[in-house]
Parts: sequence; C-alpha cells; structure tokens
Amino acid sequence: MVNLGFLLFSAVLSCLTTVPGLIHHFGYEGRDEHIQCSYPLGYEGYEKYLCKNNCGNNDVLISTLQKNTTKYRTYDEKRKRVFIAIISKLHLNDAGKFWCGVTRPGTDIYTEVKLCCQTVSKTQSIEEGSVTISCPYDSQSANNLKYLCRGNRPSVCLKQAVITSNSPQEGRFRLTDDRKSRIFTVTISRLTLKDSGLYLCGVKRTSDYDLFSAVELDVKGKPTLGDYRIFFFYHLKKLSDAATSILQSLEGFLWFANFPLFYLKASELITECFKFNTIKPQDISLK
Ligand SMILES: *[C@@H]1O[C@H](CO)[C@@H](O)[C@H](O)[C@H]1NC(C)=O
Repeated sequence: MVNLGFLLFSAVLSCLTTVPGLIHHFGYEGRDEHIQCSYPLGYEGYEKYLCKNNCGNNDVLISTLQKNTTKYRTYDEKRKRVFIAIISKLHLNDAGKFWCGVTRPGTDIYTEVKLCCQTVSKTQSIEEGSVTISCPYDSQSANNLKYLCRGNRPSVCLKQAVITSNSPQEGRFRLTDDRKSRIFTVTISRLTLKDSGLYLCGVKRTSDYDLFSAVELDVKGKPTLGDYRIFFFYHLKKLSDAATSILQSLEGFLWFANFPLFYLKASELITECFKFNTIKPQDISLK
C-alpha cells in the first residue's frame, strides 16, 4: 500500500516512465489485465468502479453495480478488501490514466492507475537448437547491469535472473552487450520445450525503476523420423513428376534420333519414377 496524500492506495501498470512512490506493474498487449485496488475497512458494501481520464460522469467504464461487458469485468473480493477490474485483450489504445473509485457520501475514494501497454515480441526456435533474444535499451543505460529472467514479474526479475551482465556465461545462457547499438542479447542453447514462455529483459537503473521489455519464446518439438520421411518422399515425388514430364517430351525426339539404348534407360527410369508416384506421403507417416 502506498500513501499518496488524499489518494489512499495506488497501482501503476506497465509505464516505463514511472511516478515516484507508485507500484510498478506490466500490462501486456493482447492479454487480460487485472487492475487491483485495495480499499479501507468498512467500505466492503459500497459500490466500486473503474473510470478513465478525469473520472467525469462519462468516464466510468464499469462498476460493481453493472453487468460485466466483453471489454471490462469487475469483482469485489470483500474479504481481502480488493476491487478487481479486468480489461480484456489489452490494446495500445487502452493506455492512459485510470482511477479505481469507491462511491461514498462526499468525495469518493480514488486510487490512481497508470496503464500503458508493453508489447511482447515473439520469437521461435526448435528443441535442441538455440535462440537469441534481443533486448534494446536507452542511451543512458549503456553502463548499467543487464539481466534476463523468466516470467512477467519485474519486481523479482533481478533476483530470479537466469543471466546477468556481471556473469555473462551461465550454463546454456550467454549474454553479450552491444553498447554501440544499445542492444544486449541473450543466447540460450540446447533448448527444451520447457524453455517456452515469457521472458523479461531488465536494465538496472539506480535513480528510477528498472527498464523492462518482454519476449515470448516458443520452442517447437524437433522433427521426428516420420516428418523427415514425409519431407523426403514429397520431394522425391516432385522430382519424379518433373523427370517424367521432361522424359516424356523427349520421347519422340529420342525415338527418331535412334538412341535405343538411352531410350531404354530412360523408360526404365520412368517406370521407377511411376513406382514412387504410387506412394503417398501419408502412407509412410510413422507418427
Ligand atoms: C464478472 O466477471 C468476474 C471475473 O470473470 C466474475 O468473478 C464476476 O462474478 C462477474 N460478475 C458478474 C455480475 O457476472
């Protein structure tokens, strides 16, 4: 809980430009964002609402007295005294200033919520392969500590970092920092399916909150023997189709040119190719 004078409690979502004393959170584009606002004892039975901008009459997005909509849902965890508003499928347009309100006689209780969307970049690789995650940073952070952690919680990211620039090689992880282009990269080798998921790139800052960017890694299973066979026979069939049409168009020419031996070989080849044509990729799949 953070005391902000007349504001009782505050939460900040995702803003990289931070307001001193506010809680630092992330909101990810395309995901549902849970905004949680605590309220004081005694207000369990009161109406709670989420509003935008200056919280005028037209700025109320949803309240606990209204039905959920597809974009906004609310519920009130009265035992914990937490009002929760869920914004579905966060979009960059959702960025802005929000307030959680508690309706009461006189002035309502307000909690400020700063919301901006953090885009998640996506990257793919294959089991047992490697991947390089790129993390851009600002010009002031060139000499600062860089790190990478799993998950989506900036507050524990450094503590749970899988690699930091202080110790740039740890098992399967290697961190390199290109200060000129202001990008640090982390290479993960010998990937397993379990490496899939969200990662945060962090840059330590002393006077302010650390900088973060998010990367979603998708590790795909490596091809099976069956996949290779399908691939092989598919291309073999294409090759034999091509060979057949070339040889067939040459047929007349070869006949008249009286190259019986070569023609014999060619027709043998065509016969062989036709044998393969009867095999369909799905017939030989081992999966
Ligand atoms: C609105 O959605 C929340 C979260 O999905 C749920 O807990 C709550 O019961 C819903 N409220 C209504 C009135 O349906």
